[in-house]
Order: sequence, then structure tokens, then C-alpha cells
Amino acid sequence: TIEAIVAREILDSRGNPTVEVEVGLDDGTIGRAAVPSGASTGAFEAIELRDGDKGRYLGKGVEKAVSNVEDKIADELLGYEASEQRLIDEKMLDIDGSSDKSELGANAILGVSLAVAKAAAQSAELPLFRYLGGPNAHLLPVPMMNILNGGAHADSNVDVQEFMIAPIGAPSFREALRTGAEVYHALKSVLKKKGLSTGLGDEGGFAPSLPSNASALDLIAEAVQAAGFALGTDIVLAMDVAATEFHKDGAYVFEGSPKSTEEMINYYAKLAETYPIVSIEDPLSEEDWAGWSAMTAQLGSKIQIVGDDLFVTNPTRIGRGIAESAANAVLVKVNQIGSLTETLDAVDLAHRSGFRTMMSHRSGETEDVTIADLAVAVGSGQIKTGAPARSDRVAKYNQLLRIEEELGSAARYAGAGAFPRYRT
Ligand code: PGA
Ligand code: ZN
Repeated sequence: TIEAIVAREILDSRGNPTVEVEVGLDDGTIGRAAVPSGASTGAFEAIELRDGDKGRYLGKGVEKAVSNVEDKIADELLGYEASEQRLIDEKMLDIDGSSDKSELGANAILGVSLAVAKAAAQSAELPLFRYLGGPNAHLLPVPMMNILNGGAHADSNVDVQEFMIAPIGAPSFREALRTGAEVYHALKSVLKKKGLSTGLGDEGGFAPSLPSNASALDLIAEAVQAAGFALGTDIVLAMDVAATEFHKDGAYVFEGSPKSTEEMINYYAKLAETYPIVSIEDPLSEEDWAGWSAMTAQLGSKIQIVGDDLFVTNPTRIGRGIAESAANAVLVKVNQIGSLTETLDAVDLAHRSGFRTMMSHRSGETEDVTIADLAVAVGSGQIKTGAPARSDRVAKYNQLLRIEEELGSAARYAGAGAFPRYRT
């Protein structure tokens, strides 16, 4: 039974304030959760409440969200069983009353929602992944490691926001992580040798300025080889283009000039012929539904096409995407929709419709590792949580190591099975 709920303002990985919540139960257990924050946020995301007081944290304080937890939510939830997640989340939506969580703030609601789940798991003496996923939670996701950062996450000239490696050939998550870390270090050497910057972007990947977006893939290919792995079998590639960010006045301003939807799709088709790319996220803008359907018709049988800003983990938008075959996978970010229940609903809808899911961090993160457990709980088979470096990123990968260890011989690494359409 929930006995107390407290919240506080803490710092995220970019040095901006975010919300942390603790939920205490009458049996003495406590669940704690911290809320992440995006930079290339979708226009249709639930609202992250910020104070706007320029005198504190450049207006980014979250004292209002913190007081909403303590003054408007806490009292209403006292006496609930922590295991009544759905009722609790519905109650918070009721109190909020808006369609985008702008009254209480998605950061306030999500903090409570996740802390409730963690308290309930503690109280049931179960690891979070097992509490949420039950006895069938055993699939370790492929880590989609973002080792080269561009777009809104870097100060470079690279348009594409994320270049990821997916170690599908590894026999276990533990070996997949080693593979990724070794390639990461090899990439640093390659960049150094070429006189390119080894400074980092927001998600721990390198952020050099480059002559083209494709040259990022060439550098990664070189690093994969230098690390002693085979591109296309041990490791395949993925990108998050985050195209909404450079969609201006109806055109994609990419590599210095405006491009049409069709030109972008043809560009991706060529790229996928040249490199072993298994997954492209947000190749087009969040408003370009027709473009997404065209892209999926043309390339969807070969590669995974992932909606992030397009779907914003929102069952209504995912429903439209399914109806219009606008993609074949959903990026899942808990704070885009703002409660655990709705996140689970989004995943469930996607999976029942034959869409894949990729669990995801935000560019602004904390030491909270909930998404690692969530990925295993729902059997996503894929997680993206940045480079295999920087504690805000590796905290999640390290938690997956613990989960794999806990599962022992019951653990199965998703590997190439995460991308059934991909054939080398
Ligand atoms: P964001 O980036 O957290 O800054 O939105 C992550 C992504 O676009 O996938
Ligand atoms: Zn994205």
C-alpha cells in the first residue's frame, strides 16, 4: 500500500534539471525513478513541464512539476496498492485532465508512474523486468549503440543525428556489449589518425565534422574492421536521421540543399544498397505521413523503418501508422507518452500488429535504468541507449548485464532474430 510520495529536482546528463520521485509503501519498500528529457523532441509528445523562471537554470527548472507530485498527486494515491499500476496511472490522467499532460506535466506523472512500478517490484521481491514481464521475460535486446552523433546532439555539420552499430552476431548480450565497446575504441583511433575530432555528443558518441553523412558510415566500417569484426555478419548498421529537425518549409534541407521526400527515399535506398543497414529511424518528418507510407512500400521489406517523432509512443498515432503502413517499427520512449501503462499499451498495439519495437533512452538521461528492465519485460529485442561509454548511457547496458546474469541459461540474446527481414 502506498504510504508516501516525495519528489525532488535533480540534474540530468546535460546538466539540466529533471524530476526524481520516491514512492514508499507500508511494508517499508521504496521505489525511486528519474525522468529523462529529449532535445530533438517531437511536436506531438506529452508536455514536459518547465518553470520558465529565467532566474533559475535558464528557465528549465522543474519545481512546478515537483510540487505537482507532492501537492496534487501524492494525497490522491495514498492507500492504493502499488501493483494497481493501471488504476494509478488512470487516476493521474484524471487529475491532469488534459490530452497532453500539460496540467501536471508528463515529467511529474511519469516519475510517479515508474516509481510506483519499482516499489511494487521491490515489495514483490522481484527484479523489475520479471515483475513487469512475468515468467516469459527472457529476451535480451540487441544494443543499438550510437557511436557517432550528429544533428541536434552535436556541434558538427553532420545532418543525421545517430549512427548506430548493432552487434547481431554475438552469442550473448555480454559479448554484444564487448563488441560494441571495442568498435567504439577503434573508431576513436580511426578519427585520431585522420585528424578528426574525438569530442563527444550528447549520447556519448563521437561528434566530428565530416564531408558527408555517408562518410560517417565509412569511418564506422573502417573501425569495425580495425577491431577485427565482420561488417554485415558480426555487426550491422542503423541510423536515426531525426529528419523533422531539418525539414523546413516543405523540404528536407540535407547536405546543404533542399530535397524532396522522393529524393530522400532514393538516397536511403542507395545507402541501404551500399552499407548493411538494418534500421532507419525518422527518415522523414513527423508530418510527412504519405512519404512514410511510400518509404515503407519501397524499403520496408528490406529494412526496419522506425517511427520516433512520427509516433511519439502514442497509441493513437501508432494506430494511424499501422492503418497506413507508414512504418514497420516503433521507437518506445516512456516520457513521450508520460506513463508506464500507456507505454505498455503502445508496445502491445505495435507487437499485435506485427510492428517491432525498440526501447529507447532520451538524449538527456540520468542514472535511472528502468528502460533496460522494460526492454526485457516486453521482449523488444532491441534497445538504443547511446554509446558504450558515459555512465548515463552504460548504466542501462550494465543493468542488462545483470539481467542476463540473473536469467542464467534461460537468457536468450535476440541477435539477428531482431531483424528477420535482414539477409546478408
Ligand atoms: P532526443 O533524441 O532524446 O533528443 O529526442 C533521441 C532520438 O531522437 O531518438
Ligand atoms: Zn529518434
